[in-house]
Amino acid sequence: MTVTIKNASDIAGMRIAGALAADVLRMIEPEVTPGVSTGQLDRLCHDYIVNQQQAIPAPLNYKGFPKSICTSINHVICHGIPDDTRILKSGDIINIDITVIKDGYHGDTSKMFVVGDAKPFATRLIQVTQECLYRGIELVRPGMHLGTIGHAIQAHAESNYYSVVQEFCGHGIGKIFHEDPQVLHYGRPETGMMLEVGMTFTIEPMINQGRRHMKILGDGWTAVTKDRKLSAQWEHTILVTESGYEILTYRDWEESFPKAST
Ligand code: MF3
Ligand code: CO
Ligand code: CO
Repeated sequence: MTVTIKNASDIAGMRIAGALAADVLRMIEPEVTPGVSTGQLDRLCHDYIVNQQQAIPAPLNYKGFPKSICTSINHVICHGIPDDTRILKSGDIINIDITVIKDGYHGDTSKMFVVGDAKPFATRLIQVTQECLYRGIELVRPGMHLGTIGHAIQAHAESNYYSVVQEFCGHGIGKIFHEDPQVLHYGRPETGMMLEVGMTFTIEPMINQGRRHMKILGDGWTAVTKDRKLSAQWEHTILVTESGYEILTYRDWEESFPKAST
């Protein structure tokens, strides 16, 4: 287990990569409408990242992943593969997960979108899942145990009668897409690794409407809920600072949660 501590120049690079990843979510928002295919969303993001941002879409060919973004609809938990035959329809919920590489550094972030008219039970899952992310982020500071963060996320999900997916976790990130530490979205307070200034990692809780259990489809990637109930996910890339946290993938045009602790 090797956790990298980022120096000032690494952090400058991570801020740029994080801002670019967030900007892709801003760009794609108006395109997430009934009638569009996830394959089309993938092409729009790919072309924007490559041509406008002059960056690299990290998922493409990562461990054999065939596309540039992940699109996870309804009961898909994560790693949904964009596809020209999957057309969004009103009432769908979708997570779009963007990871860009700029000057060697990764920025990784995802958010939920509602397509057309929202169903109240879906909106509530999406909202509570975002709160789970924020419950985790607000605890980030030097000396904090990862288990305390996981516990807070799990407690908020379960107090809303939801469940936490255990097979996937947040991760250290920097020049490498997925590095140590593993950031579990469940756990026991005061256990696990202690955070230090200069660490960068993601928090990306996947919260299910029903039971936590999942399976992987025959494509080898798409993770779905076994009970086919809805799943939601939100993700940010976070830096540990002297005073607490800084969200490197912050979307200042829409987020009300503070970008950094004071
Ligand atoms: N962006 C995802 C994460 O949050 C990972 C996607 S890996 C891929 O860690 F291969 F599916 F793209
Ligand atoms: Co991630
Ligand atoms: Co991601």
